[in-house]
Amino acid sequence: MTIILGIESSCDETAAALVSDGRVILAQHIASQDEAHRPYGGVVPEIAARAHAERLAPMIAATLADAGMTLADVDAIAATAGPGLIGGVMVGLVTAKALAMAAGKPLLAVNHLEGHALSPRLADADLAYPYLLLLVSGGHCQILWVEGVGRYKRLATTIDDALGEAFDKTAKILGLGYPGGPAVERLAATGDARAVPLPRPLLGSAEPHFSFAGLKSAVMRARDAGIYADADMAAAFQQAAIDCVIDRLKRSMDGLNESLGRASALVVAGGVAANTAIRSALEGLAASRGLRFVAPPLALCTDNAAMIAWAGIERFAAGHSDSLDVAARPRWPLDPDAAPARGAGVKA
Ligand code: KG4
Ligand code: ZN
Repeated sequence: MTIILGIESSCDETAAALVSDGRVILAQHIASQDEAHRPYGGVVPEIAARAHAERLAPMIAATLADAGMTLADVDAIAATAGPGLIGGVMVGLVTAKALAMAAGKPLLAVNHLEGHALSPRLADADLAYPYLLLLVSGGHCQILWVEGVGRYKRLATTIDDALGEAFDKTAKILGLGYPGGPAVERLAATGDARAVPLPRPLLGSAEPHFSFAGLKSAVMRARDAGIYADADMAAAFQQAAIDCVIDRLKRSMDGLNESLGRASALVVAGGVAANTAIRSALEGLAASRGLRFVAPPLALCTDNAAMIAWAGIERFAAGHSDSLDVAARPRWPLDPDAAPARGAGVKA
């Protein structure tokens, strides 16, 4: 049995987890910093890095204690090495290096996006490669063809805001506070999406990418008009976002032609994958194309260390490990060969 300690610190969640190659999460701790960032309406990188530095070491000790283990029982140590807020990434990666060195264990520098991309395989032993993945988080919005560990083809990305970012900005416009996604979803459930006309950027476009900046601006104009109920604006925003996501996925599916037949499933991952309305729309799309639909349990969607440990397990099994001088990377595309999207360079 292989057991890996995973560490996550790339944004505002500090997390540690022990995961086995039998897909068992032996122990895990996660601390969100929502309270610390709430007054600012978004994540403040310096505050985040300091909080990771305070919390991470005792959290790792507690995770090992919960599993009744020491570092000697662990086969390797995996940490997010990017992309993300660099101060936080450095705290997690340097901690992992120190533990790896002290315990004489291999180090695995994990791409946070790979953690999200492979997280559905931690929960679902039947999810085989290749699969078509919608990766939607606070920083990224991509459609990926996942061929295997370390083997990704990016089919689409956003030319401006990520989907989670659009949810967070909409929440801010509607005064719902931070983090915005769950708050918008809750309010949307009580509203009428047809009550507020909102645009669907790039709908039907031959270009494969996403765009959400115009949608967010339209929500702002709707609020300023002063005639719409907050719940209706939330519902209209969420529906417009869903329409865009489904349209863009159809575009990618059509572009794949007969390769789509090789896909074992349509898969969603990342924080926004926690959204029930989006999950059910994706389920409908998958069914209409004769594909299985796979979404991780909600706790594996938002940032966590179990997904980093699992990506570590997959990389370790494939014979990878990293040297102690591996660098923390603020940007780290999963598919470095992808053609740059219009306006991109921002969200690789
Ligand atoms: O994956 P994640 O935890 O962190 C990043 O890697 O970015 O994603 C966080 C994002 C935030 O933008 C948050 O608002 C969004 O995921 N999110 C949601 C929901 N839960 C989290 N968006 C829509 N509906 C939700 N239920
Ligand atoms: Zn994430």
